[in-house]
Amino acid sequence: MNQAKGSLTTSLLFLFFHFCISIDTITPTQFIKDGDILVSKGERFALGFFSPGTSTRRYVGIWYNKVSEQTVVWVGNRDNPVNDASGVLTINSQGNLVLYEKNQTIPLWSTNFSTSTSNSMAQLQDSGNLVLLQRDTERFLWQSFDYPTDTLLPNMKLGLNTRTGKNWVLTSWKSKDDPGTGDIVYRIDPSGVPQLFLYKGSVRWWRGGPWTGERWSGVPEMTRNYIFNVSFVNNKGEVSIAYGLTNPSIVSRMMVNESGNVQRATWNQRDHRWIGFWSDTKEQCDNFGECGANSNCDPYDSDSFICKCLPGFEPKSPRDWYLRDGSGGCIRKAGVSTCQSGEGFVKMERVRVPDTTKAQADMNLSLKVCEQECLKNCSCTAYTSADERGFGCMRWYGDLVDTRTYSSVGQDIYVRVDAAELAKYGKSKGPLAKKGVQAIMIVSIIAVTLFLLAFSAYCFVRRKRKARDRRSKSLFNFTTSATYLEDSQSGKGSDEVGISDLPCFDLSTIAAATDNFSDANKLGEGGFGSVYKGLLYGEKEIAVKRLSKYSGQGNEEFKNEVTLIAKLQHRNLVRVLGYCIQEREKMLIYEFLPNKSLDSFIFDENKRSLLDWPTRHNIICGIARGILYLHQDSRLRIIHRDLKASNVLLDASMNPKISDFGMARIFGGDQVEANTNRVVGTYGYMSPEYAMQGLFSIKSDVYSFGVLLLEIITGRKNSSYYDESTSSNLVGYVWDLWREGRSLEMVDLSLGDSYPESECKNLRWIGLQCKSVVFMLSNDTILPSPKQPAFIMKRTYNSGDPSTSGANSVNEVTVTMLEPR
Ligand SMILES: *[C@@H]1O[C@H](CO)[C@@H](O)[C@H](O)[C@H]1NC(C)=O
Ligand SMILES: *[C@@H]1O[C@H](CO)[C@@H](O)[C@H](O)[C@H]1NC(C)=O
Ligand SMILES: *[C@@H]1O[C@H](CO)[C@@H](O)[C@H](O)[C@H]1NC(C)=O
Ligand SMILES: *[C@@H]1O[C@H](CO)[C@@H](O)[C@H](O)[C@H]1NC(C)=O
Ligand SMILES: *[C@@H]1O[C@H](CO)[C@@H](O)[C@H](O)[C@H]1NC(C)=O
Ligand SMILES: *[C@@H]1O[C@H](CO)[C@@H](O)[C@H](O)[C@H]1NC(C)=O
Repeated sequence: MNQAKGSLTTSLLFLFFHFCISIDTITPTQFIKDGDILVSKGERFALGFFSPGTSTRRYVGIWYNKVSEQTVVWVGNRDNPVNDASGVLTINSQGNLVLYEKNQTIPLWSTNFSTSTSNSMAQLQDSGNLVLLQRDTERFLWQSFDYPTDTLLPNMKLGLNTRTGKNWVLTSWKSKDDPGTGDIVYRIDPSGVPQLFLYKGSVRWWRGGPWTGERWSGVPEMTRNYIFNVSFVNNKGEVSIAYGLTNPSIVSRMMVNESGNVQRATWNQRDHRWIGFWSDTKEQCDNFGECGANSNCDPYDSDSFICKCLPGFEPKSPRDWYLRDGSGGCIRKAGVSTCQSGEGFVKMERVRVPDTTKAQADMNLSLKVCEQECLKNCSCTAYTSADERGFGCMRWYGDLVDTRTYSSVGQDIYVRVDAAELAKYGKSKGPLAKKGVQAIMIVSIIAVTLFLLAFSAYCFVRRKRKARDRRSKSLFNFTTSATYLEDSQSGKGSDEVGISDLPCFDLSTIAAATDNFSDANKLGEGGFGSVYKGLLYGEKEIAVKRLSKYSGQGNEEFKNEVTLIAKLQHRNLVRVLGYCIQEREKMLIYEFLPNKSLDSFIFDENKRSLLDWPTRHNIICGIARGILYLHQDSRLRIIHRDLKASNVLLDASMNPKISDFGMARIFGGDQVEANTNRVVGTYGYMSPEYAMQGLFSIKSDVYSFGVLLLEIITGRKNSSYYDESTSSNLVGYVWDLWREGRSLEMVDLSLGDSYPESECKNLRWIGLQCKSVVFMLSNDTILPSPKQPAFIMKRTYNSGDPSTSGANSVNEVTVTMLEPR
């Protein structure tokens, strides 16, 4: 501070103090010292000295004047604080705005505006912008909006001006107490097609992707709205985005904090607090390059690993991939060249497009021309439209990095694949380049039409003939089916029997058989659809399962699946007689079993007594054999996933037959052990790890079998069993009785004395244990005590007993119980 100016301003100081509230400018004759406040004309913003958080250091900053919670939006000397209250902000002889510390001649901070003009003044505008103006012409010399700190105010630019070298980036504070330049940077990177990035230091952390015309590719939340008018500029000299407010009375800001959260908040005048309006939620898939090159991150398909190679690619390191480390990415499948004839593109929907740092955009090309252009150049790996509204062309050369899938909003991208891969994806279009394509298409349309005509004529004739000898044909069908049954009586299924002639029934035939799916014929309703009783051709009893419409499969896949499942032939499985696909209806035709399901016996007070001990034992063994066949002896390895009493049917001589097997296959999903979004099954029968985490495996069925076994012995329903005293379900109840040595009490009273004690005890033990069931059933050895099953869910537990208290033991038991020995 120079002496002359000091004495001059002494007299003005008094004046200034009194009018500081209405004064929004600093002229060369004025200064602002610590404690003074400069307020903008509309009184929205204030400028002055402040100390953040617990710090005692002083900073020059701008904050909202009318927001009760001091919210600093800009800091001048963020890296050079004043150590005491001696700071002074003034305009120096070169016309720059400078900050001095007491008795210092070197400024702590200055506006560094180069061409010297002494005739300048600083003004705090109502937008929150501090500007340095030439006094007479009002020309802008400098503005704080060109030097953002961590906050983006309305109409402030984010991006860069390549002519002037201005870089408008947001940089987080170091901490709440230190507004110094932190290491989180929010910026637009202009290389290739400009993209929004969040950097941590020099590392790319999150990618918002390119501008799609309405939003950033990686910010699906940013939909058209009524609060902001967004202006995105992308020309030779400038790439930038600015958010304006359509209603200027709203107080809204966007800021990046030191933990890397970018958030937008609006001030709620009534509650006197900031309300989060939007925040970039970070999922695993949002980490830049989480899945490496040429793969896609899909957080919604929890069936497996989130990283999936793009079409035509395979994991670079299958071992890392297996260990759930996707960072190595994917490479082209071995032996595949992408420069052959027959190549094409596979469409991926709803994605954040790959990193465009090396991509090219051309707003003048249509999507069709874009495809052709991409196909021409062998190093072009993908393309899409540059603008979400469908125009422009964006092409990628080389690796495709950081693609991810969104659940709702997203862009489509077309990934280049060779002919073989293209055939796999079927539906996408091949190359359009060949000139003869049109001619070929016309010829094939004619050919197909002719064929269809001929075919329908054939069908017509055939149907007439069929009507004539329907009766004899149906009998023939069922005699062939019957031979499979004989084959399977030995126990194991006869997989090898040809089944290609599994009959496909007409919808009209089935409708006639079930009296148009009348309610009177309805046998029941399950998760997969309704079951009807039918009389085929007036003489053969059948059960028709009408699958609910949301089965994820196409007709051809359904047919294949049914044909496979029909090969599962075992005397303890319900036999599939045929199927019907027509008019979006999918049905399975089963043999009809007169005694209905097991639950209609064991949970019925009157009928229960019909099941004596040998019958129950026979049923248990039969179910076990059926499951064993599904799990091990059949070629398909089926996990039932919904084993329960109502899915066990009884034939005329009370032999159990499992129904509904293979439904999980029909409804998609055939892994041996997998994680699934849709938990299919019935509570009470579902194993804990399946019900809670969606993890299913053979073990889930074994658990269900255990529950079923206990139900058969006790005659009580697991899910509906409530005892007022301790345990909340049947499994818990039986466990308690077992521990207390009263295990015989649980046996169904209607059995009387018909059961041999040891056999029953073993079964109960197995019900609680559920391991290699069939082996044990055929064994007379004395069995060790079972461990406590999971899922007992006691309301109160004895904290003194380590085996019944706390989450630890539940975890442990879950694991040990389900481990196959
Ligand atoms: C600053 O200068 C004034 C006079 O110009 C002097 O009285 C004061 O002691 C100085 N303060 C420091 C800390 O040097
Ligand atoms: C202004 O320029 C001086 C000298 O070139 C430099 O030391 C100082 O750090 C600059 N200040 C700002 C705020 O850029
Ligand atoms: C938003 O609209 C207002 C009023 O029309 C205008 O002044 C402002 O510049 C616009 N902002 C942007 C970023 O387009
Ligand atoms: C940053 O913002 C997020 C979201 O509001 C918040 O959860 C987090 O605690 C903030 N971090 C710091 C260091 O304030
Ligand atoms: C795109 O089209 C515009 C207007 O039709 C034209 O001015 C411009 O030169 C074209 N750009 C290219 C790269 O062809
Ligand atoms: C293919 O595209 C790349 C990247 O734009 C370019 O370097 C190369 O010359 C092109 N090749 C051909 C044959 O056009």
